[in-house]
Amino acid sequence: MRYVVTGAAGFIGSQLADTLVRAGHDVVGVDSFTDYYDVAEKEENARELDIRRADLAEEALDLVGVDGVFHLAGQPGVRSFGDVFPLYVRRNLLATHRVFEAAAAAGVRVVFASSSSVYGDAEAYPTPEDAVPQPISPYGITKLSCEQLARAYATGFGLDAVALRYFTVYGPRQRPDMFFRRVCDALLDGGSVEIYGSGEQSRSFTEVGDAVDATIAAMERAPGGALYNVGGGEEASMLEAIALLEQISGRTLDVSHTGAAAGDVRRTKADVTRIRAALGWEPRTSLADGLNRMWAWASGRVAAG
Ligand code: NAD
Ligand code: UGA
Repeated sequence: MRYVVTGAAGFIGSQLADTLVRAGHDVVGVDSFTDYYDVAEKEENARELDIRRADLAEEALDLVGVDGVFHLAGQPGVRSFGDVFPLYVRRNLLATHRVFEAAAAAGVRVVFASSSSVYGDAEAYPTPEDAVPQPISPYGITKLSCEQLARAYATGFGLDAVALRYFTVYGPRQRPDMFFRRVCDALLDGGSVEIYGSGEQSRSFTEVGDAVDATIAAMERAPGGALYNVGGGEEASMLEAIALLEQISGRTLDVSHTGAAAGDVRRTKADVTRIRAALGWEPRTSLADGLNRMWAWASGRVAAG
C-alpha cells in the first residue's frame, strides 16, 4: 500500500512510518518541522524516511495514488493557555481541515490522532468513548473540534475518517517536553524534575509500539466513522512511575514540586472494550517493560553524544 503519514518527523508519526516501511509499504512523510522542540531531534527521527517539508495549514496534500492518510501532524501538549493558543488552532484545526478537504476529494481514508484530553476530568473511569467530552485545556478543545469536523465532512462529503484518542504515549523518541522524557534526561544528566502538583495524578500510559499497532489496525480494519480509545492497560501515578524509573536506572531523581498546571487532568484511564471488540487490539506492553525500553533508548542517545 502507499500511505501518507503527516507529522512523520515527530515522536509517534516517525515510529509509525518506520513500522509501515518495515512491513513493506510505500510511505511518504509530511512534516513542517515546527520548533516546538529541537528540530535536530526531528531530523534524526525522520533520517530514514522519504519526507516532504510542508505546512499543512497552508499547503494542499497531493493524494494521487495514495491508499490512506495517517494524520498525526499537530501541536501537542495540554498546557496550552495564553499566547500559544493561535498555534494550536492553526496546527490542529486549520491543518486538519485541509487534510480532510483533500482526503474527501480523493476518496481516501484518514486515520487521525485525537487525544484523551477531550474527556477533561472524565465523568467515569475507566472512560468509554461515549462519555460526554468536556475538555479543560485549549489543546483538548482543538482536538475535539477536529473530531467534530471529521463528522461534518463525513456527512457532507462522504469523508472516510477514523479517530483515535491516544492516552499519554511513551517510549523511544518521546517528546522532550513530556514527563517520562524529562525524568530520563534528569536521571542521565543529574538535573532535576519539577512535579506539577502532588505527583499523585495518574495516567493510562501507552507504549508507542502498542499505539502504532492500533493505528495500523484502524487503517486496515476499522469501519468508517469509528472512534476508539487507544490506552495502556496499567494506570500509574507520576510518583509510582518515578519509583519504577529509579529502580530501572539504579539512580535517584532530584525532584521539586510546583503548583498543579492549568489544563492538566487529575486522572486518565482508558476503557478499551470497543477497540478490542472491533479490531482485536489491546495494550500488550507492561509499564515496566515499556520503561525499560525507553530507558535503554534514552541512555543510548546520551552515550552516542
Ligand atoms: P510531535 O510534536 O512529536 O509530532 C507532531 C509533528 O507534527 C511534529 O513533527 C511537527 O513538526 C508536525 N507538525 C505540526 N504542525 C504541522 C503542520 N501545520 N504541518 C505539517 N507538520 C506539522 O507529537 P507526538 O507526541 O508525536 O504527537 C503526534 C500526534 O498525536 C499529535 O497530533 C498529538 O496531538 C497526538 N497525541 C499525542 C499524544 C502523546 O502522548 N504523545 C497523546 C494524544 C494525542
Ligand atoms: C500527553 C501529551 O503530551 C498530549 O499531547 C496528549 O494529548 C495527552 O498526553 C493525551 O493523553 O491526550 P500528558 O498526559 O500531560 O499529555 O503527558 P505528560 O506531558 O507526559 O505529563 C504527564 C503528567 O506529568 C501530567 O500530569 C503532568 O502534570 C506531569 N508533569 C509533566 C510534571 O509533573 N512535570 C513535568 O515537567 C511534566
